[in-house]
Amino acid sequence: MQNLLSLSLLLVVLAPFVSPLRLTGTWHSDSFFLFLSKFGFQRTSSPNRRDSEGHIFGNVTTVSGSESGEPGALLAVLDRTFFLDFYTNRSWPARDAACRRMFAGLSRVAYDARCFDDGEEDFLRRVPCPRGALCPDEDAPENVVTGHQFTYSIQDVHQPRFWYISLVACHRDPVTCEWRHTRQPISVQYDIWLVNGDPRKRAQNPLEYQFSFDEQV
Ligand SMILES: *[C@@H]1O[C@H](CO)[C@@H](O)[C@H](O)[C@H]1NC(C)=O
Ligand SMILES: *[C@@H]1O[C@H](CO)[C@@H](O)[C@H](O)[C@H]1NC(C)=O
Repeated sequence: MQNLLSLSLLLVVLAPFVSPLRLTGTWHSDSFFLFLSKFGFQRTSSPNRRDSEGHIFGNVTTVSGSESGEPGALLAVLDRTFFLDFYTNRSWPARDAACRRMFAGLSRVAYDARCFDDGEEDFLRRVPCPRGALCPDEDAPENVVTGHQFTYSIQDVHQPRFWYISLVACHRDPVTCEWRHTRQPISVQYDIWLVNGDPRKRAQNPLEYQFSFDEQV
């Protein structure tokens, strides 16, 4: 109890100076798949829904600085329901088949401006994104955290939930809408932030802001 109390005090003192969870690194598409992180987002409470939403935002650009070009790869932010099939199918030996299987369940829910306009879930971003600009899949620029290329807003009014973030060398054929392996090698650098709460109001809830819900005191 004593320890817990001093830990809380320590966190209160340190909180304003601690960074939220930040993922940075480089990924080469020849490794096919990279699991980046699992993060727990708190339950969204009304009436301040926006303040308690989770946010994932950042930049993914080419290492070389040259323009990305199609077809590119995908950044996927999935909850457990979708992540399990996605993850287990990644090791299918033929990579076109792996991509097809990984995304089979997602094709019916994930929004895609060209292939599935009715999709209600905002799970995917084509990467790399062009340097100095928003990701091509960001169709609501006002929702993107300033100074970054993409933003996912996570809401769950029922319960806190884990989300799984990964990069995968798959793309969707723009004509047939089939999922394909991206053979053309690409290297991307990523800089991704994960936060509970509204990134525009950092000061509001410093303790919850930076921690995954399972680590909150
Ligand atoms: C792989 O994906 C398919 C859908 O294509 C799905 O039915 C299956 O459960 C997934 N998992 C495994 C281990 O194959
Ligand atoms: C991220 O991208 C934005 C928009 O292109 C840019 O203004 C910002 O400097 C980039 N940040 C980093 C850390 O590269």
